Amino acid sequence: MSQVVIQGGRIVTAVDDYVADILVENGKVEAIARQLDVPGAVCHDATGMLVIPGGIDVHTHMEGPQGPAMNCDTYESGTYAAAFGGTTTIVDFAYQGRGDSAKQTLDERLALAEPQVCIDYSFHMVLTDINPDVLAELPDLINQDGISSIKMYMAYPGTLMVSDADIFRTMRAVGDHGGMVNLHAENGQVIQVLIDEALAQGNTSPKYHALTRPRIMEAEATHRAIRIAELAEIPVYIVHLSAPEALAAVVEARDRGIEAFAETCPHYLFLHSEEYERPGFDAAQYVMTPPLRDHHCHHDLWRGLRFDDLQLVATDHCPFCMNEQPLGARFSKQLGRDNFNKIPNGAPGVEDRLVLLYDGGVRTGKISLNRFVQLTATAPAKMFGLFPRKGTIAVGSDADLVIFDPEEQHVISASSHHSRVDYSMFEGRQVTGKVKKVFMRGRLLVDGDRWCGEAGYGTFQKRSASGRIL
Ligand code: URP
Ligand code: ZN
Repeated sequence: MSQVVIQGGRIVTAVDDYVADILVENGKVEAIARQLDVPGAVCHDATGMLVIPGGIDVHTHMEGPQGPAMNCDTYESGTYAAAFGGTTTIVDFAYQGRGDSAKQTLDERLALAEPQVCIDYSFHMVLTDINPDVLAELPDLINQDGISSIKMYMAYPGTLMVSDADIFRTMRAVGDHGGMVNLHAENGQVIQVLIDEALAQGNTSPKYHALTRPRIMEAEATHRAIRIAELAEIPVYIVHLSAPEALAAVVEARDRGIEAFAETCPHYLFLHSEEYERPGFDAAQYVMTPPLRDHHCHHDLWRGLRFDDLQLVATDHCPFCMNEQPLGARFSKQLGRDNFNKIPNGAPGVEDRLVLLYDGGVRTGKISLNRFVQLTATAPAKMFGLFPRKGTIAVGSDADLVIFDPEEQHVISASSHHSRVDYSMFEGRQVTGKVKKVFMRGRLLVDGDRWCGEAGYGTFQKRSASGRIL
């Protein structure tokens, strides 16, 4: 029986904050007490450190196809990077191809991910081809396969976008079985008009990606998504919310008692649209969807996080390299060098979420330490059916634990991060707070700069009902 004791750390959960020892046995938290004396146990001194639940990032794209492009992180490299950032579980995406069944989609993704993943994982099922056969699969997908969240796109006409009718049909099918629908909320058709106009005028540089995706088209789709969910009587979850106007739609619905939930991402909290003024192709680093917004939007998002109108922070880690080499053009933003509409959409960040939120949220007094844990671990676990197995530190929970130094300073840089991506949106940013050790199900994965984990150690997590227990 493997026993580990983490000694003398300041244990912080979404509600607790105290100093104690943690005994881990067979991958679970077995006991928490003031002074545990366990002969033969492997001990880790956490004096002066925070001990927090392993982060749960419910929005990542590893090894995901995007037209001719492919994310440059594999399941192995992406989960390795996540672990160094204190994240011990991801919920990634399984994209249904046209004509494919949901089951086939899931099985293929599982086969790809399973031998590679270094941390625990699950998927949201992305439906792109909605038909009666696929809808009939949803009860088993949710209740037997443990995929309790279905994502659809209101953007990207001609590829990923589905109709309002299909969204409504899917919501009704999902809602009856304890699932939740996640929506990428942007008005794809109106945005396409703006894209076509920009290109016709010869405006091909990266900044036109941002100029053709206005905030009110995010707000319009968010409002529409919520109203459709209201009629279908199902909770709805808006991914990567960036615009105050979209947040207002969520707040309005929540005030009426509608189960509308939303996440935001670190880049919307810390970066802003001036990045698109960078010369040449450099601005392509920031071509993600939705785009970065104006500086003043930060204030609204932080307010949303403080008052629970935004429930959690996920990264939307969707990495593509800036350079073609060494990985190849397919993994690179260079595919869109001559046309912003061909730049693969997405940006990296899976390793930086905890430290950015700690440094820029807790240390600046915008959120409390408990709220930090709630936003990065507990709420994601509750929202997506992983709680109480994950997302907290409690007797019986998985021993997914991070020892975090609240005072250590360091600089974020692509030269020291662990993803395969060749840039960081936060390059050169000095931050205080560092992940020192990471345990997943009791096993040490990260010890300072040393990697102690292995590919394939992560296990698929069947999730229970989503979005009903916050
Ligand atoms: O820019 C982003 N978010 N990339 C991922 C593709 C998508 O929009 O889901
Ligand atoms: Zn995404």
